[in-house]
Amino acid sequence: MISVSFAATRTASKKTSAVAIFVGEDGAIPNKAALGSLHSYVTHALANDAFNGKKGDVLTLVNPQSGPSHVVVVGLGALKSLTATQLEEAGARALAAALATRATQLDLIATLPKASPIDAATAAARLGSGAHLRAYRFDKYRTKDKASDKPVLKSVTVVTSAADKAKKAYAPLAAIADAVAFTRNLVSEPANILYPETLAAECKKLSKLGVTVEVLSETQMKKLGMGALLGVGQGSRRESKLVVMQWHGGKKGAKPVALVGKGVTFDTGGISIKPSGGMEEMKWDMAGSATVIGTMRALAARKAKANVVGVVGLVENMPDGNAQRPGDVVKSMSGQTIEVINTDAEGRLVLADALWYCQDRFKPQAMVNLATLTGAILVCLGSHRAGLFSNNDGVANSLMASADTTNERLWRMPMGPEYDKMINCDIADMQNVGEGREAGSTTAAQFLQRFVNDVPWAHLDIAGVAWQNKPSSPLAPKGAVGWGVRLLSDWVETNYEK
Ligand code: BES
Ligand code: MN
Ligand code: ZN
Repeated sequence: MISVSFAATRTASKKTSAVAIFVGEDGAIPNKAALGSLHSYVTHALANDAFNGKKGDVLTLVNPQSGPSHVVVVGLGALKSLTATQLEEAGARALAAALATRATQLDLIATLPKASPIDAATAAARLGSGAHLRAYRFDKYRTKDKASDKPVLKSVTVVTSAADKAKKAYAPLAAIADAVAFTRNLVSEPANILYPETLAAECKKLSKLGVTVEVLSETQMKKLGMGALLGVGQGSRRESKLVVMQWHGGKKGAKPVALVGKGVTFDTGGISIKPSGGMEEMKWDMAGSATVIGTMRALAARKAKANVVGVVGLVENMPDGNAQRPGDVVKSMSGQTIEVINTDAEGRLVLADALWYCQDRFKPQAMVNLATLTGAILVCLGSHRAGLFSNNDGVANSLMASADTTNERLWRMPMGPEYDKMINCDIADMQNVGEGREAGSTTAAQFLQRFVNDVPWAHLDIAGVAWQNKPSSPLAPKGAVGWGVRLLSDWVETNYEK
């Protein structure tokens, strides 16, 4: 991992270091002094390049003189409307550019142009956390990397006039960034390593941070009547688990906020088996649960002043002599029966029991679930936004606001009785899919809604955003995004920590 520190003056002066500066649309270099002898060269280069400080643009200059090997110039766009999250993304872009050089040290010059509304300490902290987030790499199974294949960048120094304050502002951001990395690790692990039992063991590690963790076995779930969840795991050699995590940071006795996650550690589709092309991607069908676990870690690490409970349903969906069949009828903990038309629509079966259990035991003031639930949400929204489904405008709007703040974006999708009807069934209380493919993400949401019992609730369908094959979030490399940890941490902070 790369270390991030804060200092009042530049440390990078050697040929093995790079310097990054941040420039708005006016193209003005904000801190002449920090660039020192590089200033005239950089001014000249900027005057002769098409780079014009647009948001997201990056220019990497090779320094022909003595001093740092490269100067990375990152565009901030319109300075008046600059946000903390945009600065995080700018820090991430600087880091990505520095990784492409052979620099071992990167100085981020955090002085911003005067027109920016962000104070110096916040700016520096956000640039640092963006770099921290983007530096993530999952390479534990690469045994043959030569030294020259590995990133050489070791440390980032954020150069700021407010170093002490910035360090303080950085602490909670670093806790969140560590939790995002933890979530990405879980999502990246292959299914022979990460299965319900080992994922539950990862949850247990949160007890060190003061989170209470309980792991329910199949026997315990059977007693509770969780036939929907258990039916999914029935074809697997791995025992299904339900994990309950509690963080008590708020007032004693205050109703908690609940986060619920789909944790299908591998989704073959079951007897309704998936085509083999791309099936390896179904190792990340537990991303919803990984986000819940990571968020619990972030909340505990930054000692959030709220009571939050996380519930994750962990199963493996396999075809087997004992697997459930299309047409099987299962009974959920709520007492409602379900005809399993398609064993590949398994996430909603897992969540049916996890959601019911959660609201029944904790009576939460609000409940949000995350799930890589439908391929259809990818068709609707691509990889730019997750689908938001809710029975409550207040919860939906507060989530939308946090999504905008953190740039982990959402789009609200419709629900209603006309869609609910589509999962009615002749032989049971409901079936687990609609007829045909129409409104596939909404019928899945309607199914979940039948298990939330009037609790203010939202479902985030993250099938399009949990994993990126091409970089679309600047804060993450290719692969697991850790999507939602920043969003949910912000949502809890903004709405429940007063
Ligand atoms: N885990 C999948 C959804 C998914 C698809 C996640 C692509 C990530 C990327 C889910 O369990 C599933 O198989 N859904 C089916 C539902 C269908 C059978 C109604 C789907 O989307 O095809
Ligand atoms: Mn499936
Ligand atoms: Zn699935």
